[in-house]
Parts: sequence; structure tokens; C-alpha cells
Amino acid sequence: MEIIKCLDYDDLSKKAACIFIDKIKNIEKPILGLATGSTPLGLYKNLVKAYKDKVISFKNAITCNLDEYLGLDEDDEMSYHYYMKENLIDKVDILKDNFHIPDSHLENPKIYDEILDKIGRRSIQLLGVGENGHIAFNEPNSFLSSRTSIVKLTENTIEVNSRFFENETFVPRKAITMGIKDILNADEIILLANGKKKENVIRNFIKTENIDPNFPISFLKLHDNLKILISDMDIE
Ligand code: F6R
Repeated sequence: MEIIKCLDYDDLSKKAACIFIDKIKNIEKPILGLATGSTPLGLYKNLVKAYKDKVISFKNAITCNLDEYLGLDEDDEMSYHYYMKENLIDKVDILKDNFHIPDSHLENPKIYDEILDKIGRRSIQLLGVGENGHIAFNEPNSFLSSRTSIVKLTENTIEVNSRFFENETFVPRKAITMGIKDILNADEIILLANGKKKENVIRNFIKTENIDPNFPISFLKLHDNLKILISDMDIE
């Protein structure tokens, strides 16, 4: 595991973009595992810029996202479909068939497992982390062999994510998420964490030697090529 301390959020976004740009340039068919949330927004801005500056092309890239709220339509501004299209997919030359994200109306989560199996191991997997240690929407009490499933969001996640919605009552209570097993199925994992609110979770992750299902980020200790980029927090 490597911890990369960045000067600020801008620096974190640029450093993360450099890692992705390197993969996209040097791998013939890069398979990119992508995340949503506020943290990767700067990274996506940098990737769109690199595409516009003709530094990279997504023509040969395949992407798959981690998660989606259950029940939101694709064109709902709060859906992760919308987020991805708005921040990356519609702004670069990726082939639409190569962009994958769990279907928010999916009744059978196994369909996403089949897609993941077909795509294969990711070249790189991007992650954020929740204040409670969730990765994707694998909330506390997750398990290592989990694959795509429909999960109940915790009160903490609902409260934290309500900042994106009109108010807390609008936050979907359930989501569909890639499981831990598939998250770990990547050659490299890059986790981004910015700001004081993530300080505790990162500190505890660095400190812990145990894999604790109640602290899902701890499953990442099992991966041998993990980089954590942090900014705006006091971690020695
Ligand atoms: C989103 C996702 C979540 C977020 C996490 C942090 O696809 O997988 O685990 O990464 O909730 O969100 P932000 O970046 O908004 O703090």
C-alpha cells in the first residue's frame, strides 16, 4: 500500500489523472473501474481536458461503474448514470456500448455480475470512501466474497449524501452495488480521500491490521497494488 499525500484537492485530482492517463495511453484496451461522488469530480475534469487536448482517447477503453441508487431513472439528475454522462462519458470519445453501470431498475443483480465477468479484470479501479468506511455501497457488515447486490443504505450514508438532494427524504434508501470480490479484481486500486471528514476513516484504515466486515475499506488490505491519495487532512 502506498499513501500519497497531496498538497490540496487540485493536486490530488491532477495526480489521480496522471495515473489514469498513463493507463489509458499505455494499455491497448484499458478496463477502467469508475466511481461517483464528489471526490472524483476533479479527476474527471482533468481526464476530459486531457481528451480535449488530444493527450488521450477513450476509443479503446471499457468502463464499469461501482454503483447506482435503486429506482432513479437514467436521466434523473441525481442518478449516477446522469452523473457519469455529465462528467465524463458524454464529453469523451468512449463508445456508448463500452460504458457500464448497474441498472437502477435491475431486479436481478446477477445481470451485472455477468457483465463484469465478460469485461474481466480491471486495469485500474477507482474508489472513494464513505465516512463509515463503505467502499462503493458496501456498507458495514459486508463480506469478502460478495458480488453485485441490492443493499440498504445506512442512516449515516443517507444523511451524508443528502447534501446532493433537496433534502434527506429524497435520498433513495437502497442502492445496487458491485461487491467486494469484484472491487478487488483489478490490477491496481486507487482510492481518493479529501478533507477532514475522511481523516478518521483513513487513519483507522492505515492503523488496522485486521480485515473487519464492519469496516469495509479494510478489505483493501488484501490487495497488493493499492494507492491512497489524500488531501486536506492531518495524517502523518
Ligand atoms: C460512489 C461510491 C461511494 C463514494 C463515497 C464517497 O460511486 O462508490 O462509495 O465513493 O460515498 O463519496 P464522496 O466522494 O462524495 O465523499
